[in-house]
Amino acid sequence: MYRYSLVLIKPDAIRRKLCGEIISTYEKAGLDLCSIKIIQMDRDIAEGFYHVHKGKEFFQRLINFMVSAPTIAMVLGGNDAIKKIREINGLTDPKEATETTIRGKWALDVTRNSVHASDSPESAESEIAYFFPAFEILKYEGA
Ligand code: RTP
Ligand code: MG
Repeated sequence: MYRYSLVLIKPDAIRRKLCGEIISTYEKAGLDLCSIKIIQMDRDIAEGFYHVHKGKEFFQRLINFMVSAPTIAMVLGGNDAIKKIREINGLTDPKEATETTIRGKWALDVTRNSVHASDSPESAESEIAYFFPAFEILKYEGA
């Protein structure tokens, strides 16, 4: 089924100028780039985005990292895109990620792990709306 996912290129990857390589990885996997922008998150935006992790041991470390430099937010579309993108990204901790995945290749550690992707159709819908409130007018399939 054709799905959309909210993908972030996180500050560690922006700082190291890896955006081209990362976007190219998704394009080579056949995913459609449906929307994209670069943003500087403040604490409110980062905490709102990661509200499901509030109270966890790593929460403040994650927020400090996410406000430390800009982030690219994009909507990628494709067949089975949510699952496919999480496979392309690899496991959260780069020590456990397969070396062919984005995190296996480029992530620095479990916090500075280069990318984010939605983990379900429900989270994709709310995460896309969080950064792209007008996304419905941009939808297309297989451009
Ligand atoms: P993401 O949401 O970024 O696609 O990654 P994920 O599903 O693999 O990881 P999740 O459990 O949702 O955690 C969100 C982000 O929080 C940071 N994190 N730090 N133990 C730690 O220090 C820890 N665990 C998670 C990572 O930046 C992770 O991507
Ligand atoms: Mg997650």
